[in-house]
Amino acid sequence: MTSGTHDRDIGGRRLRPESLMMSYGYDPRLSEGALKCPIFQTSTFVFETAEEGKAFFEVAYGLREATAGEEPGLIYSRLNNPDLEILEDRLCLWDGAEACAVFESGMAAITTSLLATVRPGDVLVHSEPLYGGCEHFITQVLPGFGVTPVGFAAGHPVSEIAADLQARIGGRRVAAALVETPANPTNALVDIRALGDLLRALPQDRPPVLMVDNTFLGPLWQRPLDHGADLVLYSATKFIGGHSDVIAGACLGSAAAIAPVRTLRTFLGTMAGPWTGWLLLRSLETLKMRMTAAMKNARYVADFLADHPKVERVSYLGHLGPEHPMHALYRRQCLGPGSMISFDVQGGEAAAFRTLNALRMVKLAVSLGGTESLAEHPGTMTHADIPAEEQRRMGMGPGMIRLSVGVEHFEDIIADLSQALDAA
Ligand SMILES: Cc1ncc(COP(=O)(O)O)c(C=O)c1O
Repeated sequence: MTSGTHDRDIGGRRLRPESLMMSYGYDPRLSEGALKCPIFQTSTFVFETAEEGKAFFEVAYGLREATAGEEPGLIYSRLNNPDLEILEDRLCLWDGAEACAVFESGMAAITTSLLATVRPGDVLVHSEPLYGGCEHFITQVLPGFGVTPVGFAAGHPVSEIAADLQARIGGRRVAAALVETPANPTNALVDIRALGDLLRALPQDRPPVLMVDNTFLGPLWQRPLDHGADLVLYSATKFIGGHSDVIAGACLGSAAAIAPVRTLRTFLGTMAGPWTGWLLLRSLETLKMRMTAAMKNARYVADFLADHPKVERVSYLGHLGPEHPMHALYRRQCLGPGSMISFDVQGGEAAAFRTLNALRMVKLAVSLGGTESLAEHPGTMTHADIPAEEQRRMGMGPGMIRLSVGVEHFEDIIADLSQALDAA
């Protein structure tokens, strides 16, 4: 927003993001003194003079650099809008990013960022598994534009997969790598720093753009930019929105890394609308509280599941012990275990379905990161696009249930899971 308040210090003390979520980037004096940022539900903005309009366009279209102290002017809501600009400023605080672009969905954020980066003839490296929608775009859509996907399994040290990956890249230019860590739905990790080192050592003019989908841990429990990622991507539908009532996405990074993404967003028209922006501003005020409450609940729930006789396996970051090959990476890269659990019910798909059908409080629905607990069957729902044998290779068994733990009382969540598992 032009001339918002961007103070971040009191008496030399840097304020934490949660303290700034109610005020940062917004100046009430520009909105009749309204305490809360209004919804700027407008398609276009009035210029005071034609000269002003010309100047705004010159800066927005990069025809000249902004002069010292010149703020980008508001033009048209496909280019900029106060709700989105304030939201972008606030999202930057969590990830330690310089710039952000928000989108009308997580898929819009991911596809716009990829299209801004890859060109015909390029290779796109990606971790496996990925959220089903991303997997589809990368393996079914991008090849039609001459881009070759090269996947590697999450959950292994980069040193173990490096030789195979390099052989399959085969000397072609790698434009980007898209990594989901922890992976949806297996919680398998990828070492962002080690992958970045490998990519930057490839013999090519420009190093690949390293993109990390941080949807699963959200900005509270992992900061990929601190580990060498160039772009952080979110389905803001999940923890950032947090109430299962809005679809949105975000991309964050350095100003230079975000510039081409933002430009393509303008021409594809994939930006979020003002109402979506306003809803996310409201959600950000409670982001830390919600994510902390859900994370605390998840530990109790994961412990319960791990002890249950009908549960074969629980994938939960908080259970990675020192003996686990990903333990050191988890400690280095993640700030908390989050609230996503996947577990395998004995008896395969039929038993998983019986469990899901018997749930009473926990809702049987895809999506995650909302205040309510949600459960789904990745194999036939979010990841249905991936052939069964591929799913097995990626660590998704037929009995796997993915659980997004909400903020209800943990004993109630456990009571519901317990009676549902009786039906398995
Ligand atoms: C890890 C991950 N990335 C991206 C997406 C896509 O986000 P959206 O549904 O907001 O487009 C999802 C959605 O489930 C997801 O789980």
